[in-house]
Amino acid sequence: MLIRKAADLTYVDVTPKQVYLNRRRFLEAMGIVGATAIAGRRLFELAAPSETALAASKFSGLLKSPFSTTEKENSYQDVTHYNNFYEFGTGKEDPAKNAQKFDTSNWMVSVEGDVSKPRKFSMDEILKIAPLEERVYRHRCVEAWSIVVPWIGFSFSNLVNLVEPTQKATFVAFHSYYDSRQMPQGKWAGIEFPYVEGLRLDEAMNPLTLLGVGMYGESLPNQDGAPVRMVIPWKYGFKSIKSLVKIKFQSKMPPTTWNLAAPNEYGFYSNVNPNVDHPRWSQARERRLGEIFKRATLMFNGYGDQVASLYAGMDLKKYY
Ligand code: MTE
Repeated sequence: MLIRKAADLTYVDVTPKQVYLNRRRFLEAMGIVGATAIAGRRLFELAAPSETALAASKFSGLLKSPFSTTEKENSYQDVTHYNNFYEFGTGKEDPAKNAQKFDTSNWMVSVEGDVSKPRKFSMDEILKIAPLEERVYRHRCVEAWSIVVPWIGFSFSNLVNLVEPTQKATFVAFHSYYDSRQMPQGKWAGIEFPYVEGLRLDEAMNPLTLLGVGMYGESLPNQDGAPVRMVIPWKYGFKSIKSLVKIKFQSKMPPTTWNLAAPNEYGFYSNVNPNVDHPRWSQARERRLGEIFKRATLMFNGYGDQVASLYAGMDLKKYY
């Protein structure tokens, strides 16, 4: 069978995990996949050979990022079954259950506002903006738990450069997809949808700011923000908005979902800061999923060398 080169592949060629699992169950039922062959293997190793080659060709060209941590990655199971995605429910296991049928086909991301070249991107177009990298980042939730995730994506600045922000653009606003029919659990979440977030333009241009399209060598699972999300590793996890549909460049600081819900608890900046406690709990320590003892939380989640200069002269107790 013809194996296409990575450059020819489109987003639909990256078979989501669930499809592989269904295929595996089918092969198992047919007696084709031996039980011992399954244990602990990566997904693409479980697929039929032709699809294995296809998926591997998609991901084999991933660049290894110098920004990656060498800390131990959390398991795929942890990262896909302990989620915050309030559109699909507020329980940590709700998104894995409730997002299974989330339809992300024909996805478009609109980039608009103060830019010289506004445009809408399909997922195929997004994948071609820049070479895909694997970046292993620490992710620190404001709730004081943390994980280490091997994301796939590229610096968001690559997209920014394509649309050419005008002089007026000093902030970037992000909007998630929202459809109450596909996300009925959102009704009881207690926050407004669509979920909105924002960054200052210089924060958005920092090379650490990642446009994420996958993790663990695969496309993003629905519960982790399929098909495309932001990943901003020095900020609390709620800044890393999922299932992006709109990116708007503007001169005003954009409203953000958690700040709208509780302004005294969640600020616009939300940089990880062990010295500024949440009004209801300490931010000095965190629980890494899978570990028993809490560990110290690092300023800017350990990314200070790359980002501290963005906040030079700012009182981070005031601009939390
Ligand atoms: N994006 C949307 N659209 N809806 C959400 O509820 N939760 C945020 C963030 N992005 C959220 C979101 C929070 S609080 C966190 S900690 C991270 O997503 C969690 O990402 P993960 O589930 O992939 O670990």
